[in-house]
Amino acid sequence: MNTTDFEVRELVDEASRLIRDGSLMAHVITFGCQQNEADSERIRGMLVALGYSITDKPEDASLIIVNTCAVREHAETKALSLLGRLKEHAKKRERYCIGLVGCAAAEPHVAKMIKSNFKYVSFTLEPAMLSMLPELVARYLVRGERSFIVGQDDGRIPEGLPAIRQSKHKAWVSVMYGCNNFCSYCIVPYTRGRERSRRSEDVINECRELIDSGVREITLLGQNVNSYRSDMDFATLLERIALLEGDFIIRFMTSHPKDASSELIRVMAKHRGKIAPYFHLPLQSGSDSILAAMNRTYNRERYLSLVDELRRNIPGIAITSDIIVGFPGESEEDFLDTLDMLRRVRFDAVYAFIYSKRRGTPAAEMENQVPENVKHERINKLLKIQEEISEEQNAAYLGRTVRVLVEKEINKRGQKMLSGRSDTNKPVHITGAKYDIGEFAYVKITEVGAFDLYAEPAGNNEI
Ligand code: 5AD
Ligand code: SF4
Repeated sequence: MNTTDFEVRELVDEASRLIRDGSLMAHVITFGCQQNEADSERIRGMLVALGYSITDKPEDASLIIVNTCAVREHAETKALSLLGRLKEHAKKRERYCIGLVGCAAAEPHVAKMIKSNFKYVSFTLEPAMLSMLPELVARYLVRGERSFIVGQDDGRIPEGLPAIRQSKHKAWVSVMYGCNNFCSYCIVPYTRGRERSRRSEDVINECRELIDSGVREITLLGQNVNSYRSDMDFATLLERIALLEGDFIIRFMTSHPKDASSELIRVMAKHRGKIAPYFHLPLQSGSDSILAAMNRTYNRERYLSLVDELRRNIPGIAITSDIIVGFPGESEEDFLDTLDMLRRVRFDAVYAFIYSKRRGTPAAEMENQVPENVKHERINKLLKIQEEISEEQNAAYLGRTVRVLVEKEINKRGQKMLSGRSDTNKPVHITGAKYDIGEFAYVKITEVGAFDLYAEPAGNNEI
């Protein structure tokens, strides 16, 4: 593309006039992880700046953005089949525009396939170049020109993109993008590019503004959040944010065990009221040989000593994990090692995934792929064992007072409840009191299951 900045601005202005004159509406569909949720907030922000109003009804929208996930085949297929169903929609609309963004849009074969087989799709755009969105919409609306932006990651971080945030009380703040780890099963380093960290000053200012505007929970995001490094490391950044004035809680995800430093643990322990006593620490497998084949760079022993350090320094911390079953070459014995790790660590919760072959990753080329039926048997067994462990872990909460950030009203068991998360990130449903949405409530746990806790107001605010 050799259009000058000036020409781009003219084009975007012209598109803006068309959009405002037609009172056009836009709808954004999001698949996948929190980073995609955060990106969708920026996408909505950019679209509103272009002149669109946002609708939650796809049938009213002239512009539809599908923000995809590629981490497992199933997620990708779901997004692409949705794109297929939008064909009829495109035919009915004047000035329609359909864009595919997110991780699937960064796969060259997907972009190529869309270009030749999905002619009604206006553009595809890889995540690293998200700031080009207004330009691509404009190219299509003004000139009817389709664009396919893939492999153009310039390593820059666009600051200052507008965002329409979904919640007034909870916010995502991306601190770094991309991943350098190349775990052998994972497509993310290819779709989101190399690691780059935002300037600490930009991150801290964004957090300060959010807190001043009433946000109570900030989740710092990164594919590999604790490998953040700019003029400071992640532990220092976290401490600087924890020292901001206000009544708020900070979470962060996702961490790699290799970057979970003693300094980070020290900062978490020191600022317990501000930094959630919660750590999502993907283990992926409990077998040393599978961990090596996955290129995870730690072993069982190192992982266990990390868990021990976390629990010693931050009593009551909740630890959750990601596990992949059926990685190529995973024997019954390897799988039993994973179950053994679940029993030793006693995670609060586990997100378990069946290994999914991703094109272009080293594991996809490995010969000893595990049969589908074996993978299913293994995941079912694992989930059953973990459910018992989660329930036992939750039982320790009975009678305890916890702080909950109230998020919404729900209907459960035929009655209205207020629902939110404890500092340890457990879903808690409250009856018997009225709290405002966005308020920190101190509640006493009266009943627990494997996934949810139930509570009543506590007499005082002592935890
Ligand atoms: N197959 C299955 N699960 C995967 N994950 C990443 N890549 C794959 C894959 N190819 C899982 C990992 C990661 C989580 C976000 O998704 O467990 O931590
Ligand atoms: Fe994927 Fe591993 Fe990077 Fe996580 S750390 S995004 S699993 S390559």
